[in-house]
Amino acid sequence: LGRTIVVMDSVDSTQKIAHTLAQDKAPEGTLVIAEEQRAGRGRMARVWHSPKGTGIWMSLLLRPSLPPQKAPQFTLITAVAVVQAIWDVCQLDVEIKWPNDLLLNNKKITGILTELQADSEQIHSLIIGIGMNVNQEKKDFPEELLSIATSLSIEKGEKISRSELVQRVMYHLERYYQIYLEKGFTPIKLLWESYAVSIGKYITARTLNGELTGVALGITDDGVLLLEDEKGTVHSIYSADIEISAK
Ligand code: BTN
Repeated sequence: LGRTIVVMDSVDSTQKIAHTLAQDKAPEGTLVIAEEQRAGRGRMARVWHSPKGTGIWMSLLLRPSLPPQKAPQFTLITAVAVVQAIWDVCQLDVEIKWPNDLLLNNKKITGILTELQADSEQIHSLIIGIGMNVNQEKKDFPEELLSIATSLSIEKGEKISRSELVQRVMYHLERYYQIYLEKGFTPIKLLWESYAVSIGKYITARTLNGELTGVALGITDDGVLLLEDEKGTVHSIYSADIEISAK
């Protein structure tokens, strides 16, 4: 992976560029990295703040021969790879909040956005967007993000090498992609659960259809979150924002 790397200065979104390259038949493993995104996108149509020269804003193109239902697993594979890359380079312990938030001291350090081009049976291209807050200082974050986001250098107290981090993320991603193709999702799921803060906790999940509260039991092999409510009914949650409650 990452044998073809497209490095750009200022783009609207690396996701958008990777989608276009995918349609133009770019090979599996193509990586798009930008210094700055003017319209970085997050999950649920949110904006991803991507100031120049501070973070890692990148999108990786994969072409697994799998049905589209498997796509959410790639968000979890990527989360595990990023946790390990951050440990390798910074020795900081990152926690995962389902489905795609990586947290350090309860603040967001990395977001992952998995998008796909597919028909009902087969993925044509899978685009994994990774946004890592690396060298921002507090003044680089807009006021409204300061209480919910942080950077590796703020937490570590020193500047961090972005190129080393990109290399480690790609190293682990390639490794776990291989393990996934050979052995399936189970080994990765176990690792993911060991890094996850939400599992076993009392949580509130806000979905498009409303709110659900209960205990997060774990994830299924498809990366779906299982939540048991007070009546003992188990719900499968495909997409939501979750909050970990004190109870
Ligand atoms: C989220 O937490 O909501 C996901 C954020 C994903 C951000 C990355 S930055 C690189 C890539 N390009 C984008 O426009 N978004 C993703």
